[in-house]
Amino acid sequence: MSKRGKFIVLEGLDGAGTTTQAFLLCKYLFEKHKANVPVLTREPTSLTPYGLEIRRRLKHELLPNETVIDDFKYWADLFVNDRKWHLSEIIESNLHKGLTIISDRHMLSTLAYQSAQGGQMEYLVSLHAGLTAPDLTLFLRVPVDVSLHRIMANRCGTPEFFEKKEFLEKTAQNYEHAINLVGQQQKVAIIDGTLPIEEVHQQIRIEVDKLYK
Ligand code: TMP
Repeated sequence: MSKRGKFIVLEGLDGAGTTTQAFLLCKYLFEKHKANVPVLTREPTSLTPYGLEIRRRLKHELLPNETVIDDFKYWADLFVNDRKWHLSEIIESNLHKGLTIISDRHMLSTLAYQSAQGGQMEYLVSLHAGLTAPDLTLFLRVPVDVSLHRIMANRCGTPEFFEKKEFLEKTAQNYEHAINLVGQQQKVAIIDGTLPIEEVHQQIRIEVDKLYK
């Protein structure tokens, strides 16, 4: 029986660099040791009806019978149901086989974004009761103006549903509250996401290497 794998999550505001860094971390672990099998994944997935609805709504692609919904509970239910499927079908089974999971976003995103939509942090935490927690969450901290600047530079077209200055300001504050709350039970490492890509990656390596000691 192989040893249980590690579950690593990248978190941060839109434009913080989670996707770039998840990819670099995956490459690092793959090259570090022949026995390593890193699985790179993300939330929301596009593998459940919940995830597909989220992705459409993020891009403002509504079906003819749909209206814009900005209700935290509606969104939280979609994200958490997608997450439960992701955990049971992708994450837990692979951890059990000894694989390393790298997920671009997980529970902290719901705590930060859906509380910025008006949800109570404690209520959002309670939706995750009994679910497998990450072994390490890497939070890439960037100020909102950096986040917005990167969003505008990378996205040719309309910003997505949550990509608005005022909303991201609330989300940034709520990430800090969420980390204080969750950081008491789970390991959360804060990384300066404004550093050059390679330096952020080096900081991430240092944190991840500690998991394997
Ligand atoms: P991304 O794939 O570019 O990270 O976009 C996902 C968007 O969804 C991003 O704006 C963050 C948001 N989000 C939530 O609001 N709650 C969640 O639980 C997750 C996973 C993402």
